[in-house]
Amino acid sequence: MKTRITELFGIEHPIVQGGMHYVGYAELASAVSNAGGLGIITALTQPTPEALANEIRRCREMTDKPFGVNLTFLPSVKQPDYPGYIKAIIEGGVKIVETAGNNPQKWMPMLKEAGIKVIHKCTAVRHALKAEAIGCDAVSVDGFECGGHPGEDDVPNFILLPRAAEELKIPFIASGGMADGRSLVAALALGAEGINMGTRFIATQEAPVHENVKKAIVAASELDTRLVMRPLRNTERVLTNAAVERLLEKERRLGPNLKFEDIIEEVAGVYPRIMKQGDLDAGAWSCGMVAGLIHDIPTVKELIDRIMAQAEQIIRERLMGKLNG
Ligand SMILES: Cc1cc2nc3c(=O)[nH]c(=O)nc-3n(C[C@H](O)[C@H](O)[C@H](O)COP(=O)(O)O)c2cc1C
Repeated sequence: MKTRITELFGIEHPIVQGGMHYVGYAELASAVSNAGGLGIITALTQPTPEALANEIRRCREMTDKPFGVNLTFLPSVKQPDYPGYIKAIIEGGVKIVETAGNNPQKWMPMLKEAGIKVIHKCTAVRHALKAEAIGCDAVSVDGFECGGHPGEDDVPNFILLPRAAEELKIPFIASGGMADGRSLVAALALGAEGINMGTRFIATQEAPVHENVKKAIVAASELDTRLVMRPLRNTERVLTNAAVERLLEKERRLGPNLKFEDIIEEVAGVYPRIMKQGDLDAGAWSCGMVAGLIHDIPTVKELIDRIMAQAEQIIRERLMGKLNG
C-alpha cells in the first residue's frame, strides 16, 4: 500500500509502532521495521544517552530497514538530558524521530539540520497545526481512546481525525484504538495516511515484556481502562488494577488539593517492575481501550501481514462490493 506516510518514511506498510516506555526496545522496533512498518525505540527508557546510542546500534544489527526514536517531553520528576539523547540519535544515523508531549520547537533546529524527519504525536487539532507551523514533517493524531496520555480534550478519533484532515496540510496517521485491518481502512477513510499502534504491539511475541503483561492485555475488555492524574492535567489511560483503584480513591478524596507527591507510590518508577518482572499491580501502566479488540499474541510479522490482508479484503470485497450492488 502506498500513502504519503510510506513515501515519507520509505516503508512498505503505513503502520507505525509508537514509542512505549519499557517496551520500545530494539527487539520490538526491529521486528516492526523488518515486517515493513516503522519501529520506534523509546529514548527515555534508556538511562543515559550512551545507553541510547548502544540501543540504536543493537537495532541496526537486527534490521537494515528504517526505524525511528521517540523523544517524549512530559513533566517528569527529573529533567532528562535531551541534548545528549538528540546527539545520540544524530550520531547513530537515525533519520526519523517521533516527538510527543510538549511542543518540540526548541529541538527542531538540531533535528532538521541533521536531516531528520519529525513526526509529532499530539491529541488536539490546534497542537497538530502548531507542529505543522514549526516544521514537523507529519503528525500522529492520538484520540481519546489511546493508551498513555490522551490530553485533556477527550475527543475520540471519529471526530478528531476528520477534523485533522480538514485543517492539516502535512500527512497524519491515526493513533489510539488501532488494532487491525478494519482500523486501517477506517483511518484512511477519515483522512489519515496510516496508523500508529501502541497497546496492540505489546501483545506480540517479540515485545520484550513479561508474559503477564501480554496476557493481561488479551484478558482485558474495552471497559477495563481508567483515566488517572486528570486533576494534575497529566491524564493517562491505564489498565485498571489494585494500585490504580487506590490512586483514584486518593484523587476523589483529595480533590483539587491532590499533588504529585500524593500518588508517587502508584506512578513513579513502576514500569520496570511491571514490564520486566510482570508485577502487574505494582502501579499504573498505560493501556488503550483497544485491549478489547486484542485476542491473541501473534508475531509482529503475522500481525502486520494480517492487518494488510484484512484491509485489502475490506476495500476490495466489502466496500467495492457495496458499490457494485
Ligand atoms: C505501555 C505504554 C507506554 C507508552 N509510553 C509512551 C512513551 O513513553 N512516549 C510516548 O510518546 N507514547 C507512549 N505511549 C503511547 C503510544 O506510543 C501510542 O501513542 C498509544 O499507545 C496509541 O494508542 P493505542 O494504545 O490505543 O494503540 C505508551 C503507550 C503504552 C500502551
